[in-house]
Amino acid sequence: MTELLDHLCRRIAIEGPLTIAQYMEECLGNPKYGYYTGKNPFGRGGDFITAPEISQMFGELAGLWCGIEWMAMGQPGQVHLIELGPGRGTLMADAMRVAKGVPGFVEAINLHLVETSPALREHQRGQLAAFNPVWHDHLSAVPDGPALIVANEFFDALPIRQFQRIPDGWCERLIGVDENSEHPALRVGWASPLLVHPLVPEHLVSADIDSVVEVSPAALNYMRTLAERLNAGQGAALIIDYGYMKSGAGETLQAVKNHSYSDVLADQGKVDLTAHVDFESLVNVAVESGVQAFGPLTQGAFLKSLGIEERAENLMANATPEQAKLVQSGLERLISAKGMGELFKVVAVTSPDLEPPVGFQEMSE
Ligand SMILES: C[S@@+](CC[C@H](N)C(=O)[O-])C[C@H]1O[C@@H](n2cnc3c(N)ncnc32)[C@H](O)[C@@H]1O
Repeated sequence: MTELLDHLCRRIAIEGPLTIAQYMEECLGNPKYGYYTGKNPFGRGGDFITAPEISQMFGELAGLWCGIEWMAMGQPGQVHLIELGPGRGTLMADAMRVAKGVPGFVEAINLHLVETSPALREHQRGQLAAFNPVWHDHLSAVPDGPALIVANEFFDALPIRQFQRIPDGWCERLIGVDENSEHPALRVGWASPLLVHPLVPEHLVSADIDSVVEVSPAALNYMRTLAERLNAGQGAALIIDYGYMKSGAGETLQAVKNHSYSDVLADQGKVDLTAHVDFESLVNVAVESGVQAFGPLTQGAFLKSLGIEERAENLMANATPEQAKLVQSGLERLISAKGMGELFKVVAVTSPDLEPPVGFQEMSE
């Protein structure tokens, strides 16, 4: 039994069953045993690989996007460049290399990294110390002022709650202790039904019986904080994640270990837990908060419109055959439908005074 499972069983004995959100919070962020707390889960030897770890082009284009938005903002002399969930710091290291090519931009940047994992903060320090980053536990702690915000695969790590429709209404899915198991184990159960649950979106209330609806109050609150910040001051945010364009019913909570799917209720703290991001709801929250939202569009379309194919050609022209192969395979993985090109979506959120950002201009015409 993992130490986290032991802790969860005790917590459930005292407090009763946990919501899926409470379970995810514990599994990912428990200060002693959480998945992200002490571990570097990235790369071949880890559990998963993210876009910036696949190819330098991803972070470079994020840096280019930020540089162009900084110019669109009138080149403020001080700008907070904020990354939410920076992982190993790879995206930002590649972005800063490109930022140096935009005259005056690097000098204007105050770098802020919003990261809860002590182990990953150390990786980020190793990559980004030259830019004097300041770390925060939450976006709300970053000082006011013009801001550029980047979040890649951050929202999918925020906890979700699950609701299932039964003939009597909607029940929240809960996690309790499996009393019938010979070994300590957890099992899924249900809270008593409510005819209409306040968290189930109105347009899904009449979904088919047995439908599961996922809602992430944590993600919606994060988006509200982000949007209120961009409404109060100038700025733009780029949000990239895997998820769906339109809110709908469906179960997407998943556990990943060693690049394969695994059991959500096993190996607590040793497997990554994520859920698909509901981009429609995120966009709605942003717009309700008074800012502009653009997208979602697919990652493939976004990266192509920023010139990833040209950048790949340029890199390959100066590369050894092995390096060129890596550039080509990275390009395909990032933009093809078989890779991340369609599943991953991109949304931009900007303060009301800015024009549609680069990558989103055609779709707003
Ligand atoms: C899947 S990783 C993505 C890392 C990086 N953006 C990349 O693309 O490689 C999720 C990141 O978000 C961080 N994280 C997860 N939940 C967080 C939270 N509530 N607040 C701040 N950071 C969080 C993790 O520690 C990790 O750095």
